[in-house]
Amino acid sequence: MDTRISEARERGGAMAENASFLQALFDRLARHAREAGREAAGRATRRPFVTLSYAQSIDGSIAARPSRPFALSSEESFDMTHLLRSRHDALLVGINTVLTDDPRLTVRRCAGDNPQPVVLDSRLRFPVDARLLTHPDRYPLILTTDQADASEIRRLEARGAEIRVLPRDGADRVDLAAALRCLADIGVASLMVEGGAGVIGSFLRQRLVDHCVITVPFCGSGGGSFGPSNP
Ligand SMILES: NC(=O)c1ccc[n+]([C@@H]2O[C@H](COP(=O)([O-])OP(=O)(O)OC[C@H]3O[C@@H](n4cnc5c(N)ncnc54)[C@H](OP(=O)(O)O)[C@@H]3O)[C@@H](O)[C@H]2O)c1
Repeated sequence: MDTRISEARERGGAMAENASFLQALFDRLARHAREAGREAAGRATRRPFVTLSYAQSIDGSIAARPSRPFALSSEESFDMTHLLRSRHDALLVGINTVLTDDPRLTVRRCAGDNPQPVVLDSRLRFPVDARLLTHPDRYPLILTTDQADASEIRRLEARGAEIRVLPRDGADRVDLAAALRCLADIGVASLMVEGGAGVIGSFLRQRLVDHCVITVPFCGSGGGSFGPSNP
């Protein structure tokens, strides 16, 4: 059994119950990493294993309103999120989540390495004062399209961000198949997708999710019903 799951079990409480069901995911991740390692030595690697993880209210909202931060997580679900982060090579969010929450996307509530932060940002709206640019050991990888301004690319690269220009999808957003190929090419075998609603909806609609971990608190309503099906 994973040592971090054993530690959580010893501590008891809700995290212990969560930890047990996560073992199945960790087994799948380990199997995929072994297969990806074998493939990397031969032909081109396939796409990363994709875990979707987010919190939603009982009425299916992940935020009260678009572009507003909304606390939906308990201490236990924060612990679980950080445990999950520590088991993935990369962690992906949409640009609106960066603009709204200014997340750090690091592992802080358990031992483990920080995953590579990845942002989907078709037009490069990424702010130069985002906390991701002060990440302790990994600069963000921003996946964009040819709609990005060249001077903005240079400005963000000067701050340490890595920018990849990828094909657009039918809605002029970053093409997800191209994004996953790009990540596989740089050695990402496992990807955790944390949100927000637009990105979660895109991954689900395109059937690119291998495992889903959804946290639903006992109380609290999103009111605005802003969720993956109606971003
Ligand atoms: N409850 C949770 O677990 C959780 C987790 C994270 C975030 N959130 C909340 O979610 C909200 C933000 O969600 P959101 O739906 O507004 O934004 P989002 O999913 O964070 O970002 C969506 C944006 O990403 C860009 N994008 C690029 N390629 C894309 C693609 N293939 N598919 C989808 N999007 C793509 C698009 O902007 P461009 O066209 O400009 O590229 C799109 O508008 C915030 O309120 C945040 O607090 C909740």
